Amino acid sequence: MKSVEISFLVICGIFVTSINAHLKDNNGYFKNRPRDCTDIDIKQKSGVYKIYPEGSADGFNVYCDMMTESVNGGWTVFQRRMNGKIDFYRDWKEYKEGFGSLRSEFWLGNDRLHMLTAQGKYELMITMEDFSNQNRYAKYDNVKVGNEKSKYLLTFGTYRGNAGNSLSGHHHDKKFSTKDQDNDVSSDNCATKYKGGWWYGACHGANLNGLYLSATQLHRESKGCSSKKMFKSHMSFLKTKCNSFWICNDRLHMLTAQGKYELMITMENFSNQNRYAKYDNVKVGNEKSKYLLTLGTYRGNAGNSLSGHHDKKFSTKDQDNDVASRNCATKYKGGWWYSDCHGADLNGLYLSGKHSSFADGINWHAWRGYHYSLKRSAVMIRRLN
Ligand SMILES: *[C@@H]1O[C@H](CO)[C@@H](O)[C@H](O)[C@H]1NC(C)=O
Repeated sequence: MKSVEISFLVICGIFVTSINAHLKDNNGYFKNRPRDCTDIDIKQKSGVYKIYPEGSADGFNVYCDMMTESVNGGWTVFQRRMNGKIDFYRDWKEYKEGFGSLRSEFWLGNDRLHMLTAQGKYELMITMEDFSNQNRYAKYDNVKVGNEKSKYLLTFGTYRGNAGNSLSGHHHDKKFSTKDQDNDVSSDNCATKYKGGWWYGACHGANLNGLYLSATQLHRESKGCSSKKMFKSHMSFLKTKCNSFWICNDRLHMLTAQGKYELMITMENFSNQNRYAKYDNVKVGNEKSKYLLTLGTYRGNAGNSLSGHHDKKFSTKDQDNDVASRNCATKYKGGWWYSDCHGADLNGLYLSGKHSSFADGINWHAWRGYHYSLKRSAVMIRRLN
């Protein structure tokens, strides 16, 4: 089987650093008024520091990463996702000015990004983590973000890293788009389609099935991923935040109709314990059947919480196809093949561990019960013939 590691990558942090680094002047001016995190003494801890880029009289606070492996610190973090608390589906003005909280999730702001990268030669680093805590990075030299007039045009140079170069083809020399300003080169607004703000090129969602055919990931929840954004039809791998997604049910049907598929679910709790459950012979029916789920035999170490969902229809808040008297989708805040109602609900709310509410988290009953919402889960299929 071909490795499909690529489908599990999420981008969890984006950094810039100046490479004409540590050019502190003799008077210690930059020490007192650092232009960016690179001017901060390398021995300092990571944290929030005030910087004074050229053109910013009063300075502003940023989060400096002083110890990310292999990069020797001095990185100005301009985006971070870690707990799903901040909504990134925002408008032009909010991306311009920045939003969120520097100690958790945020976007630093496009004007600031422009101001920073206009000061000198900068490199860009993107760090990613896959679902088994493997880390990868991608670096690009010579990154610049233009001013608002240029629509924050992004340009960058050569790739280095171990994550693969996914940025050059689609995002170099691209303008920034948000839901209220479509500057991409696609006929749709990619920002609306993919629910973010970014230097979108053309959207490549149409290639998704091609990319993931041998073990398609249907869904993931991760630390830093909000399940409120569930029910999106699909997403491009290039979507740049720490995202959760749901591949659309029609595609799921289309895929599983092609042959014999197995289903694998991987999950992790907040002490990084991992479990999995596999089911052979998975099929999802067409819309007419209400995407009827059928499953074969269970194997795994997570416990069998899904067999109760065999031969069940899919329900959402606006379509009650379950066998309960009430709508399980409304009750347990997800979209799923609910029965009466569930043994596992991986599309429930991202409740981050123990929760007092009943069964409305990302629950896998056989492992952690109805009052524990998993840190991560991923659902994937693999063709067997
Ligand atoms: C994670 O799962 C293991 C094994 O079931 C359990 O011992 C541990 O307490 C769990 N950790 C958390 C934080 O729930």
